[in-house]
Amino acid sequence: MSKTALITGVTGQDGAYLAKLLLEKGYDVHGLVARRSSDTRWRLRELGVEGQISYHEGDLADACSIQRAVIKAKPDEIYNLGAQSFVGSSWDQPVTTAVVDGIGVTHLLEAIRQFAPQTRFYQASTSEMFGLIQAERQDENTPFYPRSPYGVAKLYGHWITVNYRESFGLHASSGILFNHESPLRGIEFVTRKVSDAAARIKLGKQTELRLGNIDAKRDWGFAGDYVEAMWLMLQQEQADDYVVATGVTTTVRDMCKLAFEHVGLNYEDYVVIDPQFFRPAEVEVLLGNPGKAERKLGWTPKTSLSTLIEMMVEADLRRVGKE
Ligand code: NAP
Ligand code: GDD
Repeated sequence: MSKTALITGVTGQDGAYLAKLLLEKGYDVHGLVARRSSDTRWRLRELGVEGQISYHEGDLADACSIQRAVIKAKPDEIYNLGAQSFVGSSWDQPVTTAVVDGIGVTHLLEAIRQFAPQTRFYQASTSEMFGLIQAERQDENTPFYPRSPYGVAKLYGHWITVNYRESFGLHASSGILFNHESPLRGIEFVTRKVSDAAARIKLGKQTELRLGNIDAKRDWGFAGDYVEAMWLMLQQEQADDYVVATGVTTTVRDMCKLAFEHVGLNYEDYVVIDPQFFRPAEVEVLLGNPGKAERKLGWTPKTSLSTLIEMMVEADLRRVGKE
């Protein structure tokens, strides 16, 4: 019999890739969708899966809607990908971020505990929890030191997941994922901002790219690879926590170089440093050690940063070209 999965954040980057993966595996896929005044399903259309998902209206801040979705969908697996996920906005909306990214996790875990204790649960935790890094390469045993309201909220989400596993025996896993990108990435995140700008500048539709701290370093992978790790976590007999990363870190500056070189341009001729894009507290460097995911899940990243950036720039060239 086919399995049923409920994905919160199904309209986001990871939600779209995960929905596609689960549909390919024969799952009955349900998605929680928050009420918005404009269309949010464009990523699902891009991947050709919009019509294959059962939608439940709900918001992670609203416990009633979460309970209703869990009771109606009767999922074997829940993937909690919904979040206010932009670090920069978390200083402008710290309370919303805390409620959605933190308390929202408890709403789901409580619904599982009360109505569906056999349901397996995945929590979308983040390398932002490492923040001011306490080890050169971060793994599951590295102490956390979040540097943004987003990181703080996600740390609560991580620990409440661990706590419900230990308190009530729930099959609840926390995936500590490092940055992962794709052509479906939101335009506010730096890789997509850069790929879009490289395409626009190449096509004569933009003249400069304004960025913040280009010396920051991130461990960037491809979202399509990372959703496989999420699924693998829920197929294990025991729930656990896993770091998912490439094990390579690159500056924003070198990522820009890759994007602009792909269209035959020199990033230094176009990038302008603008103080408005610096953060109140920065995460200067992230570098993950995915050894446990490799050993226990048999997961390895397949896509290099240069391939990923090429994929993103090519998609933006096609899109901007049609505008
Ligand atoms: P994303 O593209 O920003 O998607 C976020 C999703 O959450 C969207 O579907 C959004 O719905 C939904 N959402 C926002 N507020 C909600 C609310 N109050 N109730 C219900 N749903 C809500 O993020 P992503 O890159 O796919 O990331 C997926 C998850 O992984 C997030 O939890 C993120 O924090 C975490 N994460 C991401 C990365 C990364 O590098 N991508 C790394 C580590 C962890 P709308 O479409 O309606 O806005
Ligand atoms: N967004 C943005 N815009 N970032 C910039 C810019 C700019 O103009 N200029 C420099 N940066 C730097 C940021 O200061 C940060 O150090 C780095 O680029 C990456 O920023 P983002 O792409 O916004 O991602 P993030 O690392 O803050 O957060 C993402 O990854 C986390 C995992 O580590 C998000 O996807 C989070 O949801 C996720 O948890």
